[in-house]
Amino acid sequence: MKIKILTLFPNMFEGILGESILKRAIESGICSVELIDIRAYSLDKHHHVDDTPYGGGAGMVLACDVVDRAIAANTTDKSYKVLMTPQGRTYKQAIAKELASKEELVLICGHYEGFDERIRDYVDDEISIGDYVLTGGELAAGVVCDSVIRLLDHAIRKESSEEDSFSDGLLEYPQYTRPVEYKGVCVPEVLVNGNHKLIREYRLKESLRKTYLRRPDLLEARALTGEEEKLLKEIKEESE
Ligand code: ADE
Repeated sequence: MKIKILTLFPNMFEGILGESILKRAIESGICSVELIDIRAYSLDKHHHVDDTPYGGGAGMVLACDVVDRAIAANTTDKSYKVLMTPQGRTYKQAIAKELASKEELVLICGHYEGFDERIRDYVDDEISIGDYVLTGGELAAGVVCDSVIRLLDHAIRKESSEEDSFSDGLLEYPQYTRPVEYKGVCVPEVLVNGNHKLIREYRLKESLRKTYLRRPDLLEARALTGEEEKLLKEIKEESE
């Protein structure tokens, strides 16, 4: 997969792309990430990219011609162009999966004081990473990159991403490692004993319990199997 990020601040991505799983995925050729400086597409001799808003008001607005040129020079018919903006559809694991299936993803980072509305005409999608306002789309693009790249084949062990919170609509079950007892708190007996059938059932039940207690909205959005219904009934009785 190819990812291109159009940004006014390419240096902001060094840390995100230069460490850990993303670094490995890029080095091993699972994906490539190209940082494109929007400023390079300004025709202005001082490389201005923004201007004052029509109608007045505070701040500067990212100009549509500069972004249009940056997009046109770096995309083909195969590119899926996504504008990062708080006005976009709210990012979810299901959207990460959708984006991970694209051949080429182009993430366009908005500007902290706003951008010309006509830029919306040049993209295929608009994504918000949550109901808060960032100073620009860079951190949001970093979140999208991270969550998409880890889903690509061979970026991490397949089982790890299949067990993720949200990947089957539930929060992940609790995990433990050594020591078996720490400050008086013990690892649940069932996990230590190694009975695979009981461990599977424990994990499913605790996954349901976490989701029921912390994110009941996720349960409402998901059909339950017979086994899950039974476990959820037990959880409800246990929490009365
Ligand atoms: N740019 C500024 N805030 C944002 C958000 N919440 N999501 C995506 N892009 C943004």
